[in-house]
Amino acid sequence: MRKKIVAGNWKMNTSIAEGELLANQIDFLTSTLDNDVQIIITPPYTHLQKVGMVLKDHKSKVELAAQNCADHTSGAYTGEVSVEMLKELTCKYVILGHSERREYYGETNETLLKKINLVLSAGLKPIFCVGEKLEEREANKHFEVVASQIKEVLYKLRGVEFANVIVAYEPVWAIGTGKTATSDQAEEMHAYIRRVIADKFAQYADETPILYGGSCKPSNAAEIFSKENVDGGLIGGASLNAQDFVTIIKSF
Ligand code: 13P
Repeated sequence: MRKKIVAGNWKMNTSIAEGELLANQIDFLTSTLDNDVQIIITPPYTHLQKVGMVLKDHKSKVELAAQNCADHTSGAYTGEVSVEMLKELTCKYVILGHSERREYYGETNETLLKKINLVLSAGLKPIFCVGEKLEEREANKHFEVVASQIKEVLYKLRGVEFANVIVAYEPVWAIGTGKTATSDQAEEMHAYIRRVIADKFAQYADETPILYGGSCKPSNAAEIFSKENVDGGLIGGASLNAQDFVTIIKSF
């Protein structure tokens, strides 16, 4: 049985106080849930300590993740945050390769390979994002683009390392646009991603969680999650509202 995961990516939103409140609300609303969905929240770096303490104090089932990490272990890298620092802050996961980081901060597959290796060697799990832009889908290049994102980074891992990877398919045209991929479009790509993974890591492909991200909300989550190869969601905007986020978690 593959794990079901719903992860909230808060991006650069909320004050620290708002973040603490949101974490408290999410913890409270999920504390009595008895489904087997793994719940992850991903606040900004500055919030991790306080949010981590909220989760620890409540012995919460909600787990903590970071939105990014440095591509070096330590040293003269002004403005960067290392994986070990994130681990100390009780993060269990790190989002890597989000399209916003690829597009606005020039992250390449080469940089992502360094980061993913650091995350895995620290014993944390990467949530590795892939996805095509609108023009790539319109040119019918979406499968090719996603395959190359997987091949240039994930194919370079050893099987035992790859076993800890969570993949998130986030079509760039669906992020923050209100335009969701249809559940069939999501399923088609998720099934394809699983086949590409199977070509290299046959033994792990069935167990790899593949999350959908892009305008996922309470009104469409159940339909998207009903698809065989969709194992959960990476939620942006809707994860900033505890009630909406928990409704999405309950959509499984
Ligand atoms: P939205 O849910 O706001 O479209 O964002 C998706 C996303 O980028 C999650 O990482």
